[in-house]
Parts: sequence; C-alpha cells; structure tokens
Amino acid sequence: MRILFLTHTFNSLTQRLYCELSERGHRVSIEFDIADSVAEEAVALFKPDLIVAPYLRRAIPESIWKRHTCLIVHPGIVGDRGPSALDWAIQEQWPEWGVTVLQAEAEMDAGPIWAEERFPLRVAKKSSLYRNEVTEAAARGVLKAVAAFERGATEPFVPTPLNYDDPAVQGRLRPLMKQSDRAIDWSRDTTAVVLAKINAADGFPGIADVLFGQACHLFDASAESLLKGAPGEPIARRETAICRATVDGAVWLGHVKRGEGTGFVHPFKLPATLAFAAEAAALPEAKLDGWWAQQHETWQDIRYEEAQHVGFLHFEFTNGAMGTRQCERLLEAYRWALTRPTKVIVLMGGRDFWSNGVHLNLIEAAESPADESWANINAIDDLAEAIIGTGSHLTIAAVQGNTGAGGCFLARAADLVWMRDGALMNPHYKNMGNLYGSEYWTYLLPPRVGADGARAIMQNRMPLTAKAGVANGFIDACLAADIDAFRVDVARRAAELANAADLDARLAAKRTKRAADEAAKPLAQYRTEELDHMRRNFYGFDPSYHVARFHFVQKSPQSWTPRHLAKHRDLGWTVPA
Ligand code: COA
Repeated sequence: MRILFLTHTFNSLTQRLYCELSERGHRVSIEFDIADSVAEEAVALFKPDLIVAPYLRRAIPESIWKRHTCLIVHPGIVGDRGPSALDWAIQEQWPEWGVTVLQAEAEMDAGPIWAEERFPLRVAKKSSLYRNEVTEAAARGVLKAVAAFERGATEPFVPTPLNYDDPAVQGRLRPLMKQSDRAIDWSRDTTAVVLAKINAADGFPGIADVLFGQACHLFDASAESLLKGAPGEPIARRETAICRATVDGAVWLGHVKRGEGTGFVHPFKLPATLAFAAEAAALPEAKLDGWWAQQHETWQDIRYEEAQHVGFLHFEFTNGAMGTRQCERLLEAYRWALTRPTKVIVLMGGRDFWSNGVHLNLIEAAESPADESWANINAIDDLAEAIIGTGSHLTIAAVQGNTGAGGCFLARAADLVWMRDGALMNPHYKNMGNLYGSEYWTYLLPPRVGADGARAIMQNRMPLTAKAGVANGFIDACLAADIDAFRVDVARRAAELANAADLDARLAAKRTKRAADEAAKPLAQYRTEELDHMRRNFYGFDPSYHVARFHFVQKSPQSWTPRHLAKHRDLGWTVPA
C-alpha cells in the first residue's frame, strides 16, 4: 500500500513505524504537519491508500479525514484523550498504560478504535517510556491496524466506537497538564512523588521550580538513598548533577533550564552544574570512589560491572549526548577497565541511547561554539581511537537504545556491534547542516558495507533497524527486543567469547589485522582528513552546521519536510498504477 505519514516531526516513534511498514513492502512517504494546505497537497500528490499520524499535535483537517482513512497513534489507553496523556499516567502512577490506534473524526482522539496495546508502566522518565514501551506498543498496534485495513477489501473490519458507558473503558478526556498541576511541594512531597512529577515532565516541559533562589525548570531526576538534608535544599554535586534533599531522602537533578517565561538564560536545558556553575561549585562534592557500580540508589553516569571474565561499561549520558568532559571521563574509565583481569569488554551505553555523538547543547551554550565543537570532536575521536587500538581485549558495543550520528561510528569502533531488535541507528551526519563527521567513519564504514554502501548510507540519511544493519553488514547481530532479555543474551554471549578456547588466537588475529591496516594507512591520517573537513564545518565560510545546530537545540518548528522524507515531492515521482 501507499501509506502517507502526517506527523509533527520524524521522531523516533515515527522512524520506527516507517521502518516496520517499509520492511513489510509498503511505500511510505512523509509530510510534516505544517499547515492544512500542505497536508492536502501531500495527499493529492501521493494518493495514499491509508494515512497514519504517528505523532501529531493538531487535528487532521476535515478535508482529509472525510475522504481517507486516517489512523492516529495516541499514547494512552482506550478513552484517554487530551494532549498530556503520558504526563497524567506517570504523575498519577498508573500501574498499566497503553497506546490506542484510532480513526480521525471531527472530535479529536474520539474516533473509533482500531487497536489498543497495553504495557506495565515502569517508574521512568516520560521520554524513556515513549522511546521504549510506547514505541513498542505503537508498532504492534499500527501493524495490526494496517493489516486489518489491508484485509478490509475482502474481510471488512469495523473499528470499535468509543463508548464511555462501557465499564472496561478506563480512559477519560484529560486537560492539558499545567505547571500548577506539576508543582513540587518540597516540604511535603516524598522522593517517589518528586520523581513521578519530574518524570512526567521530562523532555518537555520540565517542572517550573526555584533553585538557589532562582527560577528554573527541572529535568532528568534520579533517586539518592544515602544523602540527606533539609527538604528542598541542594546538598551536594557530582559531575553534571546536583543533589537536592526531599522529606524522606534526596533526588539528583541532571538538567535544568535556568530562567522563566521569556527570560531563560538559554532556552534549552543544560547540565545542572553548568547552568548553576557558581552555586554548584560551592556545594560539597559527593565523589564516587572509582568506576564500580554503586550498590545503593544514586546517580552514576559511568559504571562498571564484571562477570565471568567480562567487563561491562555502562555510560548513561542523558539523551546520548557526549560532551568533551564526558568523553574524557569515559576514556579514563575505559582505560581503567582494560587493566582489569578480563579479556572481553562490553560497551553498554545507556538504556535509552547508546550515544548520539557530540553534545550539541553544550556546544550551543559555549562562548565559542566552533572551539567547543573542535574540542568535543577531538575528545570523542580519542575515545574511538582507544577502542579501535585495543589489542588486549575483544570489544563489543551492545546497543540497547537508539544511536545517532557519531555515536554509531563510536559503536562501530568496537570489534562487534550487537543491537537490540527495535532500536534504531542513524549512521549519518548530513542532517546537522551537512556535517562531514569524524569518529574514524572513513576507516570503519567502507569495509563493512562497501564504498557504494557507505555513500548510500551517508546520502540517504534514513534510520537503520537492527535487522537491516545485519543485512547490510553494518552491525553483527540483532538480539532480543526486550531490554532485560537483551542484556541477559549479551552477557551470555560475551562470556562464551571470553571463555572460548580460541580467544587468544582471535586477539592475535585482531592485532595482526590492525597492524596491517595501520601499515596501509595510519589511523592518524584518517583522522587528519576527517578533521580537515570538520574544521571547515566549524570555522569555514559556510555556516550551515551552526545554523542547523541552533535550530536543533532551540527546537525551531519545521517549515518544510526534507525531500528525502517527502518522497511524493520528488521530481519524477509518479503514482504507481
Ligand atoms: N546533543 C545534544 N542533545 C541531543 C543530541 C546531541 N547530539 N542528540 C539528541 N539530543 C537530544 C534532543 O535535543 C532531544 O532533547 P529533549 O530531551 O529536549 O527532547 C533528545 O535528545 C531526543 O532527541 P530527539 O531528536 O527527540 O530523538 P529522536 O530519537 O527522535 O532522534 C536522532 C534521534 C539521533 C536522530 C536525533 O536526536 C539527532 O539527529 N541528533 C543529533 C545527532 C548529531 O548530529 N550529533 C552531532 C554529530 S556527531
């Protein structure tokens, strides 16, 4: 079928549905929801059999839903309506939540239901639930609905009308959640309540609050079980996070947006210890002793575990963004991990993202974004170089969550890349103002996918699923979709490798191959060539990268759909018979 996506952006959920439907042979084209007339034009050009709205913030115009079946993905259970679906569910701590696929009609989110998928509501940030449980449920629901629609020619499917008299319908119309609904009362709210509130606001819009006597929005909280203090008071700092006491414990605040209304210092979030640099510096440092995973609840962005002669290095950097200092610390942790009596090291990344490359918010906030870009790319290259040059260990990147741009090549620097089924990679840089990219991609990519394959990946700028990555050679294995099952499988396979009789031979072969590659063309030369391009991106006459980064960080609304997504706008596109 020809399926048109009407969507606010090509976000992770939209990318996942795009991949799932394309892999099933459907032709999917995308139009961003910019104006009714633009959507109408897209429909006229593409003549879709079906329209799917994975992520819309406005209603579909009547001129479209009256003539075409339009399926809306709503991140709520049957009967739930309104723009703050997940926010209410998380803040009210529902034990179970769901995704509904419903048909667009005059009243928003009140159309008949094509599918509903449920999941246990984990205690987690909204963005994490959206990227995991919601995305999985949406994929299941949309695939069911699309299949029912497709069968409709021979076996008509009648979606279920929404009926609030049915006792099984638990959802209700909920208003937009306002800051007054979200407010934290530091003199009464327990750690669990504070976490539920910040989790419900995570990503966007954050919680309007006051820290060090200054207005700000809070994001990215995690529990602390040892530190205590006067409720509401900041009591400690650690790397990028600030610890604040609650009535029964404390929470770590990872990110804040300082200011309020139109007076934000930066209209985007920054690590808490940077946004409040002077105030944080005056707090006692709650330093962790080494890299070992802590046994109590706390905030630890880099942590190391060991089992069966395998080292596991987790790096849980918010949004997968890796600033200069984070890269340096990770390199330090990596070098330390190599001194352990192990032979295999698994780079686990974070649960939601493995890595999304350099930290664009930190770069945007720097006095000289060009200098900070340069420092950051060099720091991530140092890390990639250390991984590529590791002769003592077999290295594995275990990609649990999505990974983009330089993060993909950082993963590819490992000997093996194992990816969770359902996670997505975006192994290209061009979306960021035609950035050339580094992380040794010119050394790492062509041998895996061939020169033409490398060019296609870089030009096409499309997401890659784990299965497609295995098929084209970019990754080595697609493992279980369930995160816990994935981790168990990774640990088992890594232990098998570590304890295999041929491990030493394998390591020797790896060292020989690296030496041969080095003799053919030194790694330093790849780096110099890539960085020559990057220097032009950062310091040259063409400001595209700086403009694209500004819009990305500021979340500027899209004013057109990129051509590589809106296939119906391609010159020469004709509707197949
Ligand atoms: N630096 C800083 N923040 C980043 C980031 C980066 N490199 N990559 C993603 N983020 C942030 C986004 O701003 C967003 O922030 P939010 O918490 O305010 O919503 C969050 O991470 C999630 O990103 P989003 O774009 O909504 O996720 P997605 O899953 O839809 O898309 C990517 C994933 C990787 C395709 C997309 O985030 C992207 O293109 N990132 C930039 C990658 C890049 O160009 N890196 C620099 C070159 S190495």
